[in-house]
Amino acid sequence: MPDVTGPTGCPCRSSILVTGATGNLGREVVDRLQAHGARVRCLVRDQAAPRPGVEWAVGDLTNPAAVRAALVGIDAVFLIWPLLDSAPAHDLVAELIAAAPRVVYLSSTAIDDEASRQSDPIVQVHADMEALLRNAGLCPMVLRSDTLASNARGWIPQLRAGDVVSGPEIARTAVVDERDVADAAVAALLGQHNQLGHGPYLLTGPEVLSRADQVALLGVALRRRLRFQAVTADLARSRMLTDGRPKRLMEALIAASLRRPESNRTTDHVERLTGRPAGTFARWAIDHTAEFR
Ligand SMILES: NC(=O)c1ccc[n+]([C@@H]2O[C@H](COP(=O)([O-])OP(=O)(O)OC[C@H]3O[C@@H](n4cnc5c(N)ncnc54)[C@H](OP(=O)(O)O)[C@@H]3O)[C@@H](O)[C@H]2O)c1
Repeated sequence: MPDVTGPTGCPCRSSILVTGATGNLGREVVDRLQAHGARVRCLVRDQAAPRPGVEWAVGDLTNPAAVRAALVGIDAVFLIWPLLDSAPAHDLVAELIAAAPRVVYLSSTAIDDEASRQSDPIVQVHADMEALLRNAGLCPMVLRSDTLASNARGWIPQLRAGDVVSGPEIARTAVVDERDVADAAVAALLGQHNQLGHGPYLLTGPEVLSRADQVALLGVALRRRLRFQAVTADLARSRMLTDGRPKRLMEALIAASLRRPESNRTTDHVERLTGRPAGTFARWAIDHTAEFR
């Protein structure tokens, strides 16, 4: 039986379960919920580094018993689905129906509501998850996020070794600061706005950027002349396999690179949820220079 450990919170506070709590976005969500005084429980696969004031439920999102234990006493769930297949989510949905918390689901702006099939497997799984949650009657609040600025952390090893980021190209899009997405998620989880509907909210940054644009902006922040070098799908494929990426993830990333269309859309939805405009990638780069040195 999975354990739920940690301090017991005041019953008058909202109890929030955060999934993906060790990830780039989840860490920001946890920080903000704590700052708001919420009682926070994290569903984690490996309780490696306990944080003061946070409860830990240890288990995998695909383990119904772990999810059931994690949901006890929970008012709202910040739900991510990092898998490439929505089929294992049916058990999770059954647990959510039984526990009946409010659900805030982190989806993708790349979903095309008019399309019968999405551009690539990563977008398809988000579309499938939205439908699954909705059809189960969970009335999720859906936050569709654009590409997170924190994905740039994947370039750290290359930028510590040299001035070139080399990788597969992907279509330009309005890269969004994960801190803005976290602020929006917290507003949704704590129900700070009476007028919030179920969305979907489209969380974008203020400008449409290519990978080359992002690398150049990192260069400005680091005072270095950096550049992006696109590689062919075949080369990207063989590099990812050498790096030990699972084959299915590698194929999904290649499909996103080849098939995801450019998006010129920027929205004010971050501001609608948080009360302030979305930050720029240039600001993100300045705030994170230490990580790239
Ligand atoms: N990155 C983007 O540009 C983007 C854009 C739109 C939507 N999203 C959605 O946002 C999510 C979070 O993004 P991120 O950049 O913060 O991801 P991330 O840094 O890769 O973090 C992924 C998190 O998911 C957890 N996780 C993975 N598989 C799990 C499983 N089977 N059971 C329980 N937890 C599991 C990981 O835990 P461990 O520490 O145990 O590995 C980690 O906490 C993505 O998974 C995606 O669905 C991302």
